[in-house]
Amino acid sequence: MAIINMYAKCTNSYVVGFICTILLLRSVAECREVNGVLENLEYPAISCRKHSASLIDFGGVGDGKTSNTKAFQYAIGNLSHYGSDGGALLVVPPGKWLTGSFNLTSHFTLFLHRDTIILASQDESEWPELSVLPSYGRGRDAPDGRFSSLIFGTNLTDVVVTGYNGTIDGQGSYWWDKFHKGELKLTRPYMIEIMFSDHIQISNLTLINSPSWFVHPIYSSDIIIQGLTIAAPTDSPNTDGIDPDVCFILYISVFNYYYTLTILVENSTTNYSFSFSLTDSCTNTRIEDCNIVSGDDCIAVKSGWDEYGIKFGMPSQHIVIRRLTCVSPDSAMIALGSEMSGGIQDVRAENLTAIDTESAVRIKTAVGRGGYVKDIFVKGMNLNNMKYVFWITGSYGSHADNDFDPKALPDISGINYRDVIADYCNYTAKLEGIPNDPFTGICISNMSITNSDMKKLQWNCTDVEGVSSNVSPVPCELLSQKEEKKFDCPFPDEKLPIESVMLKTCSFKSV
Ligand SMILES: *[C@@H]1O[C@H](CO)[C@@H](O)[C@H](O)[C@H]1NC(C)=O
Ligand SMILES: *[C@@H]1O[C@H](CO)[C@@H](O)[C@H](O)[C@H]1NC(C)=O
Ligand SMILES: *[C@@H]1O[C@H](CO)[C@@H](O)[C@H](O)[C@H]1NC(C)=O
Ligand SMILES: *[C@@H]1O[C@H](CO)[C@@H](O)[C@H](O)[C@H]1NC(C)=O
Ligand SMILES: *[C@@H]1O[C@H](CO)[C@@H](O)[C@H](O)[C@H]1NC(C)=O
Ligand SMILES: *[C@@H]1O[C@H](CO)[C@@H](O)[C@H](O)[C@H]1NC(C)=O
Ligand SMILES: *[C@@H]1O[C@H](CO)[C@@H](O)[C@H](O)[C@H]1NC(C)=O
Ligand SMILES: *[C@@H]1O[C@H](CO)[C@@H](O)[C@H](O)[C@H]1NC(C)=O
Ligand SMILES: *[C@@H]1O[C@H](CO)[C@@H](O)[C@H](O)[C@H]1NC(C)=O
Ligand SMILES: *[C@@H]1O[C@H](CO)[C@@H](O)[C@H](O)[C@H]1NC(C)=O
Ligand SMILES: *[C@@H]1O[C@H](CO)[C@@H](O)[C@H](O)[C@H]1NC(C)=O
Repeated sequence: MAIINMYAKCTNSYVVGFICTILLLRSVAECREVNGVLENLEYPAISCRKHSASLIDFGGVGDGKTSNTKAFQYAIGNLSHYGSDGGALLVVPPGKWLTGSFNLTSHFTLFLHRDTIILASQDESEWPELSVLPSYGRGRDAPDGRFSSLIFGTNLTDVVVTGYNGTIDGQGSYWWDKFHKGELKLTRPYMIEIMFSDHIQISNLTLINSPSWFVHPIYSSDIIIQGLTIAAPTDSPNTDGIDPDVCFILYISVFNYYYTLTILVENSTTNYSFSFSLTDSCTNTRIEDCNIVSGDDCIAVKSGWDEYGIKFGMPSQHIVIRRLTCVSPDSAMIALGSEMSGGIQDVRAENLTAIDTESAVRIKTAVGRGGYVKDIFVKGMNLNNMKYVFWITGSYGSHADNDFDPKALPDISGINYRDVIADYCNYTAKLEGIPNDPFTGICISNMSITNSDMKKLQWNCTDVEGVSSNVSPVPCELLSQKEEKKFDCPFPDEKLPIESVMLKTCSFKSV
């Protein structure tokens, strides 16, 4: 699909009465043909870069002992100057590169070779402190500040973190010990966090042993996460794989194209420019071909916590998840919540495999959360050795503080699951709504389970309403059975814009 940039040029410095000329420009691929093709490394990306440099050029030392925090900061600071001149790529060559937290920049690619290992420092002075996220109101491990993520970016556009399956090792054991001993004064760092940004790609990497969550895009949009291998011990605390969280940017739909609107405001002394991404959706996240083994949820879609999330008032929506494999004995393959107070809507998950996992798709919410979880579509699940196939929890608790509003009830509706094969699952479903706040529009079709323990109550449904068809074992009465032979729970036909984004083939000279 073509990508079109729209520029609106306005010639008045007052908001009222803009006279704008609008130009539509079909953007051209920015990749340059480079001579000496044989020396070039190719990789797929949302945008290619004109300039490239190696961490070694900036004093990096890949011996696993020397700190490279300054080298990363210096390199990225330097390369940020190429943002308006075709962008830049920073190669991290084979070796072991110890580093504390560093910040990304716009129009930038971080590239890890196959034998590259980035090692996260265990020296807390290498991790700056950030304030807590507004939609959470507090840190999850400690009420006040939090450590910056290992790889952090805020207020950016067009950022790629990729490679030939190189490794980022969070060396999380240091942080997990402190967590277990209750010694954390600040919330643990995440591995990769991107805030207030758009056009982000994180792909073809091996991520291991994060101190806490692995990948956390928040207040961001147009995100592609692809080909990640994520692993942490299954008893490590809060090592969620990928947590798409809260959108922020303003969107308008125009024929399903992506637009960037740049408004220039001129007067005789000053020129201002404002840029907005305009697409027909909010978060627009695509997660595909990932393998995750983790101590917590493989993927957790979130949108703010209790009164803080309600006040922030921004949902997570338009999220595509496909071809995911998950192992998580104590958590879910895909969790929706528990922080869902800004709302979660339009999640489409397809072709999912879970092995040795507590539950497949789990909704977690509670009185006081407010918000909603609606229009959830899941198609094609292959499950093996699970505690629950379907699990919805209306009494999750776990509040930010005691100031939550007991009248803030979540709206859970339009939850669709179909085409499920499950083997060795102890319970088919535990669907628990909230008294006087039933969870409605639950649909389950075409499901078969082998080797479940029929001595156990297979369906435990309370305060839910919905339908089922072609489901065995026989579902609870609250999911009334459709008589029609050919009844399938819905799954949207039309694609989200993020699904049509094609990656370009980029290349750079190997170092
Ligand atoms: C950093 O940027 C400056 C100016 O853009 C450039 O001259 C210099 O070569 C760059 N590289 C290093 C390693 O400093
Ligand atoms: C990264 O950016 C954040 C927010 O601007 C800042 O607080 C932090 O100190 C920066 N980190 C580094 C390592 O420069
Ligand atoms: C980033 O953007 C947010 C939202 O527009 C704004 O509140 C914040 O001040 C910006 N931060 C920086 C470091 O520019
Ligand atoms: C990436 O590396 C991990 C860990 O070594 C491995 O399991 C996985 O198969 C690799 N993926 C690809 C696409 O090479
Ligand atoms: C990146 O990962 C994707 C999806 O797993 C795969 O198809 C592609 O070949 C990988 N690319 C490289 C350069 O390794
Ligand atoms: C241009 O805009 C700036 C900021 O709004 C304002 O301070 C300045 O007075 C304006 N100049 C003229 C000539 O209108
Ligand atoms: C504002 O931009 C215009 C071109 O769009 C340029 O001619 C003019 O010099 C700029 N003015 C200032 C104050 O930068
Ligand atoms: C899911 O799997 C089915 C059957 O193998 C295949 O036809 C379909 O294209 C897959 N969908 C995605 C999004 O991978
Ligand atoms: C299922 O039940 C059996 C017997 O009670 C137990 O040993 C097993 O751990 C359970 N499996 C899961 C995934 O909870
Ligand atoms: C039922 O689900 C199975 C397993 O996902 C799938 O192969 C089959 O095509 C589905 N049947 C219908 C009628 O959709
Ligand atoms: C069914 O679920 C309800 C609500 O969560 C719980 O109180 C009850 O103990 C469960 N029943 C069985 C037999 O597990």
